[in-house]
Amino acid sequence: MKGVILAGGLGTRLRPLTSITNKHLLPVYDRPMIYYPIQTLVQAGIKDIMLVTGGNAAGDFLRLLGNGEEFGLKHINYTYQRREGGIAEALGLCRHFVGDDKVVVMLGDNILDGSIKKAVNDFQKQDSGAKIFLKTVDNPREYGVAEIKGQLVKNIVEKPKNPKSNYAVIGIYMYDSQVWDILKTLKPSGRGELEITDVNNAFIKKGQMTYEIIKGWWGDAGSSIEDLWVVNQFIGQRARNNK
Ligand code: G1P
Repeated sequence: MKGVILAGGLGTRLRPLTSITNKHLLPVYDRPMIYYPIQTLVQAGIKDIMLVTGGNAAGDFLRLLGNGEEFGLKHINYTYQRREGGIAEALGLCRHFVGDDKVVVMLGDNILDGSIKKAVNDFQKQDSGAKIFLKTVDNPREYGVAEIKGQLVKNIVEKPKNPKSNYAVIGIYMYDSQVWDILKTLKPSGRGELEITDVNNAFIKKGQMTYEIIKGWWGDAGSSIEDLWVVNQFIGQRARNNK
């Protein structure tokens, strides 16, 4: 299974912090944000990782992460997104890297307390399709929101005005190679981007989308200054507790 971490975008919601750097290089307590998703994937046993970034600070990732030695890796793959085309477009740049393998895609601003190792192993055994992670939240309007029925996801709506549930779709997605054909069918959304929610809904239509509700803490450090602050506080407190 391959891993893809998406760390592009302009980070407009975090300006001026992101005026001269990439959002995923901002500090989360004692290290740059991008460290956390790399650790999550490596801990889950995924060693073959590609990082997608863009913009003027792209070279800083190479200087910061090198070949991933700090994470026990021998090598990190990098690719460059030339424009802001959305999460699904960024994933499309990784096709040659993933090949026919399965892939776990993680947004570089999503930070988890727990492990995804079991879910990754479960997905390895899943015949085909996709798997997403859900988390109950108080503010579902800010996320992709899933309606579930039994073991199946019925539908996902991106940032709905009237959410049908409190289940936010968190920024970790697992796909089999059908994803590449699905990407070809996508049309830009109202915000001009290829939406990952459309990819997920295509797997739902095929009846091939499973889910796991995560029990541990989850934070999206990149959606607002407020969220970045909350994530910093949580990670800082965790570090102090572990001393
Ligand atoms: C993205 C996805 C959304 C998901 C969220 C999780 O939103 O589009 O479905 O719930 O990440 O962090 P964004 O943060 O890019 O607005």
